[in-house]
Amino acid sequence: MRALSFGLLATAVSLGNVLGSAINDCAQVANSSIDLYTYTFPLVLMQATSNQTAQDGLSGVITQDPSNHLVVKINLDTSYVQGFFNLEKYSYTLTVPNHGSRYWIAQYLDAYSNTFADPGNRTLEDKPYTFGLIGPKGHRNFLPKNATVYESPTDMAWILGRVYQNGTTTDQEIVTDLIKQWVVTKYPLHSSKPISVTSTPIANGTAPSGSVAPLAAVTSLTTQEFFDTASQLMCDNQPAHADKKFLQKMSKDLGFKPCSKEAFKKPNFVYSCLLPNFTTTAVKTIAAEGVASAAAIMHDGWPVYTSGIGAYGTNFIFRAVVALVGLGANLAEDAVYPSATKTAAGVPLNTSQAYTLTFQKGDFPPVDAFWSITYYNAQNYLQPNTANVYALRSADPFTYNSNGSLTIFVQANAPSNSSFSKNWLPSQSNGTFTLTLRLYNPQQAILNGSWVPPPIIQSAQPI
Ligand SMILES: *[C@@H]1O[C@H](CO)[C@@H](O)[C@H](O)[C@H]1NC(C)=O
Ligand SMILES: *[C@@H]1O[C@H](CO)[C@@H](O)[C@H](O)[C@H]1NC(C)=O
Ligand SMILES: *[C@@H]1O[C@H](CO)[C@@H](O)[C@H](O)[C@H]1NC(C)=O
Ligand SMILES: *[C@@H]1O[C@H](CO)[C@@H](O)[C@H](O)[C@H]1NC(C)=O
Ligand SMILES: *[C@@H]1O[C@H](CO)[C@@H](O)[C@H](O)[C@H]1NC(C)=O
Ligand SMILES: *[C@@H]1O[C@H](CO)[C@@H](O)[C@H](O)[C@H]1NC(C)=O
Ligand SMILES: *[C@@H]1O[C@H](CO)[C@@H](O)[C@H](O)[C@H]1NC(C)=O
Ligand SMILES: *[C@@H]1O[C@H](CO)[C@@H](O)[C@H](O)[C@H]1NC(C)=O
Ligand SMILES: *[C@@H]1O[C@H](CO)[C@@H](O)[C@H](O)[C@H]1NC(C)=O
Ligand SMILES: *[C@@H]1O[C@H](CO)[C@@H](O)[C@H](O)[C@H]1NC(C)=O
Ligand SMILES: *[C@@H]1O[C@H](CO)[C@@H](O)[C@H](O)[C@H]1NC(C)=O
Ligand SMILES: *[C@@H]1O[C@H](CO)[C@@H](O)[C@H](O)[C@H]1NC(C)=O
Repeated sequence: MRALSFGLLATAVSLGNVLGSAINDCAQVANSSIDLYTYTFPLVLMQATSNQTAQDGLSGVITQDPSNHLVVKINLDTSYVQGFFNLEKYSYTLTVPNHGSRYWIAQYLDAYSNTFADPGNRTLEDKPYTFGLIGPKGHRNFLPKNATVYESPTDMAWILGRVYQNGTTTDQEIVTDLIKQWVVTKYPLHSSKPISVTSTPIANGTAPSGSVAPLAAVTSLTTQEFFDTASQLMCDNQPAHADKKFLQKMSKDLGFKPCSKEAFKKPNFVYSCLLPNFTTTAVKTIAAEGVASAAAIMHDGWPVYTSGIGAYGTNFIFRAVVALVGLGANLAEDAVYPSATKTAAGVPLNTSQAYTLTFQKGDFPPVDAFWSITYYNAQNYLQPNTANVYALRSADPFTYNSNGSLTIFVQANAPSNSSFSKNWLPSQSNGTFTLTLRLYNPQQAILNGSWVPPPIIQSAQPI
């Protein structure tokens, strides 16, 4: 991996030298710089996220509430346990306790937001495990023999753990105790003698005051700061071999140099071709192309992604749009998250209306773990509401219809028949909103697209 990547850098730099004089077409620069932004956006967003997250160890967050704007589309089904690791000089192990048939997953992401390992209760037994984490320079032989070792393709790695909790105080206490037993041990690259052993502290669900949400941190960079940051991040986080062709094109079109203090060979020329609103345009392009790619797999208003998510290969636009709307998305085998912004009839979901969603008897989500449905406001955050209810979960004490089906009511006020109060998902923001269904450990029928979510239907009036 290392040798191939060095080869790629050499090629990119030499092409830049040879073809540097050809870079004189502003239209081409304007066009290709959007592609380069799309390619590097997840990398820079990962750094911004790491700036806001535990380093060199894990931190657990038990509660997720509307005040948490650290990530968009935060889930309410699991507590998070996460941290960023720099593998340039160290290797690590993570030991997890027996979670006792409770859903859990430890997702390992590289600097480009690709998932490279996903141990969890889908594939493992109910017992303690030790996982090793090494970077491109690390050696598995120095880690304990009982460790299953994962190799990160980049020096930056993010462990993003999730442990099921049902939202009650009792359950949160159980999960707090479990998460404190996620233990990280740090090793030098070439020694089996640990430097430190740390269990996971539990923090509050809110970001430190004064901190900027990662997405805002990225979009507030100037175009030059953005591309220089991206290029520098590519030293320790070398692009995959499969990206070579794309990077050669960037070298040819833009004079782009990975792993360089200045991203472009002729920066003045490149920046003179870009409009002042370049970043806004690039982000809008990512969002628009993402929506367009979602349209192809739309079912009754629900876009369902079941392939390519989580590990993106060279599908850079999909990687960028997923980073934009939900950095850290799981592989489909672990969880599928259909998100609807429109009714089955194609009309935007709007807080001025009332909606129902009915799972027919025998057609409940086919999952091996559990499912949930969460309400997000137009900014993809939780919206404070008078009932303090933000999500409904498969384990909730719902009231079923007499024919065995289950209707969920999405409306501003509780259903007038109080028997159905547990089926109510409050919609009290202002304007449009999103409903996200989360399907954990989805069965084959979800992965092959034969099961799709039921249509969201606008009611004539609130129920
Ligand atoms: C860039 O050019 C290609 C064709 O060369 C075109 O398909 C693409 O839409 C253009 N992208 C932008 C952002 O203009
Ligand atoms: C992350 O923090 C470093 C150090 O403060 C800063 O230089 C860098 O610009 C930040 N990255 C982003 C993407 O905000
Ligand atoms: C994984 O978690 C789900 C519930 O969340 C449980 O039904 C299942 O038995 C667990 N599997 C294992 C192997 O523990
Ligand atoms: C694996 O070995 C290490 C070092 O001896 C130990 O600390 C850890 O608890 C072991 N892991 C498991 C799952 O037994
Ligand atoms: C939540 O978990 C607690 C403790 O594990 C359990 O007693 C309770 O019944 C659960 N409630 C729901 C609604 O799942
Ligand atoms: C979490 O917040 C509560 C109240 O908001 C506060 O009492 C507590 O000290 C905080 N804990 C930590 C670890 O910051
Ligand atoms: C960026 O500025 C150009 C020229 O002023 C304008 O045509 C374009 O609509 C703007 N794009 C965005 C996304 O604001
Ligand atoms: C939402 O509904 C209100 C009131 O009917 C309407 O004014 C508004 O245009 C709607 N918004 C969208 C995005 O459809
Ligand atoms: C079962 O009843 C609910 C409402 O009570 C209705 O929406 C649903 O379509 C019915 N299912 C079937 C299969 O008739
Ligand atoms: C409320 O719903 C329950 C359960 O379906 C039903 O038995 C009851 O008759 C309903 N009450 C009214 C006032 O409609
Ligand atoms: C909803 O948004 C409109 C337009 O932005 C604003 O005039 C109105 O006051 C808002 N209503 C509430 C309840 O926030
Ligand atoms: C999808 O999976 C389901 C459940 O295993 C199976 O019944 C169905 O035939 C499969 N459909 C396709 C198109 O493979």
